[in-house]
Amino acid sequence: MTISLNWRVLSFGLLLTGSAALSPAAVAKPPVAAVVQSAPASRRPGHAAVASANFLATRAGLEVLRQGGNAFDAAVAVASMLSVVEPESSGIGGGFMAVLHRAKDGRNVFIDARETAPAAVDAKDYVNPDGSPNRDTALSGPLSAGIPGEPAGLVLIAQRYGRLALQQSLAPAIRLARAGFKPDPRLHGAIAEEQKVLQRWPASAAKYLRNGQAPAPGAIWRDPEQARTLERLAQHGDDGFYHGGTAQKLVDAVRAAGGNWTLADLAGYQAKERTPVSVDYRGYKIITAPPPSSGGVAIAEILNILSGYDLAAMDQVQRVHYIVEAMRRAFRDHNAYLGDPDFVKMPLAMLLSPYYADGLRQSILPDRATPSSMLPRAEPADAGMHTTHFSIIDADGNMAAVTLTVNTILGSKFVAAGTGVLLNNEMDDFALVPNKPNVYGLLGSKANAPVGGKRMLSSMSPSIVIGPERTMVIGSPGGSTIITQVLEGILHFIDGENAQQIVAHKRFHHQYLPDVVMVEPGTFDAATSAALEQMGYTLKQREPWGFMNVVTWDRKTNQLDAASDPRRPSGLGQVQ
Ligand code: GLY
Repeated sequence: MTISLNWRVLSFGLLLTGSAALSPAAVAKPPVAAVVQSAPASRRPGHAAVASANFLATRAGLEVLRQGGNAFDAAVAVASMLSVVEPESSGIGGGFMAVLHRAKDGRNVFIDARETAPAAVDAKDYVNPDGSPNRDTALSGPLSAGIPGEPAGLVLIAQRYGRLALQQSLAPAIRLARAGFKPDPRLHGAIAEEQKVLQRWPASAAKYLRNGQAPAPGAIWRDPEQARTLERLAQHGDDGFYHGGTAQKLVDAVRAAGGNWTLADLAGYQAKERTPVSVDYRGYKIITAPPPSSGGVAIAEILNILSGYDLAAMDQVQRVHYIVEAMRRAFRDHNAYLGDPDFVKMPLAMLLSPYYADGLRQSILPDRATPSSMLPRAEPADAGMHTTHFSIIDADGNMAAVTLTVNTILGSKFVAAGTGVLLNNEMDDFALVPNKPNVYGLLGSKANAPVGGKRMLSSMSPSIVIGPERTMVIGSPGGSTIITQVLEGILHFIDGENAQQIVAHKRFHHQYLPDVVMVEPGTFDAATSAALEQMGYTLKQREPWGFMNVVTWDRKTNQLDAASDPRRPSGLGQVQ
């Protein structure tokens, strides 16, 4: 359909250019940004809940809680167990981002265990002689791997926030890696799918294949090398992974296969504590991920725009229209501005300001989609599609929202010989080749260009939502759709839905470019789809979505609820 330009669309373009040109200093005091303290919960739940994408991981968390651990010890147990049982999504060769809430003092903190580029990163490695992007080096093998952040992040959480020794929290994963387990159908499918790539490296084939083929379903799976690596981490903390024997093996394996890591890259890695993004919306405080994730800033910007509408009083078409337009504008900014805060100056005060959101809201027509081409141009960037998330609340009201990733399924597919560590392919989350599309057909931005020691931009959006009576811990995998899935979960929670309803809800997504609304089949009925198309939207069905894991706490009735996304049958949300 053709959309004719009218004066409002034109004035919108001008208005946005004006707003986007505001310097950070133009908004003196950000009224919604960077609030770190929230009131401590008025009561303790008295029992605990864990929701993750794998029942063995949920049980590891519950086991550690029963032993006297808190939500943070349980987070270490769940994350390390996922490294063993769900390696297609996350692991100690990857990274994570977490929002933690400590009940005793109300402290909210963001843990940044994102991977970094090795010092010798060279953008030329990701370009073919004809100038086209080299998708193979970006996605497979050691050049695609960033320096892992998960081990350092787990040590940090255990040492600064846990109650138990790291050995105790890592024990369930080490035990199961030795004893063995039956991989779920998703892991089997991932290995079958990636069989050819896994065959390229002997240590990858040895770990995941039997006689060069994916093992038969039902076979018992053991991972003694990863157990030994986890054990060294348990005994020596950071030194057990980033120095000494493990570090040497990682570097030797990477370099022997054509990579460029050095011992100094590993020794220099640090997990970081950062101030979360915090935004108030309809009486709820949303505590979420700051850069190097784009998630929290985008969620805050969308909520600030939506706060000017009475969504509850609208029909579905009108509500979806305003939500999509808010998504479009937030994703444009995400592409234009965001990167690693240690390397890039970002106008966060502006992006998080309600006054900035007011300007964006005024640019939204009530009855018409805004073509993305009408917005000031910003190069799009994206993150991977495969990740995992878990949520925990313990008996004292401590909370952990943790999203973990090796990027695409089975990461780089490269296992470092002698370590059992499957490396991520997170380098593809950088804008590796300017103005050339990445694996998802999207282009890259300067703020996210690769530099040694820099963290690649992520969409991971672990979040905690604290309302007058109810609290929720939420997150999801899904690449760039993580942001909009978490946003929709937050809106459903504020509308009063329970954990099961929130994870099961059908979802939709818009990310500025491509200019389409991606829709889960069954989200809109025919009349709604037709009305949205009439307004100028292009709808495109997309699978898969999810897999969200949510824990809620009704502080009035003191009821905990845990729900794992029904799209992933191996998941488990459990209250104990
Ligand atoms: N690799 C997925 C993300 O960090 O968003």
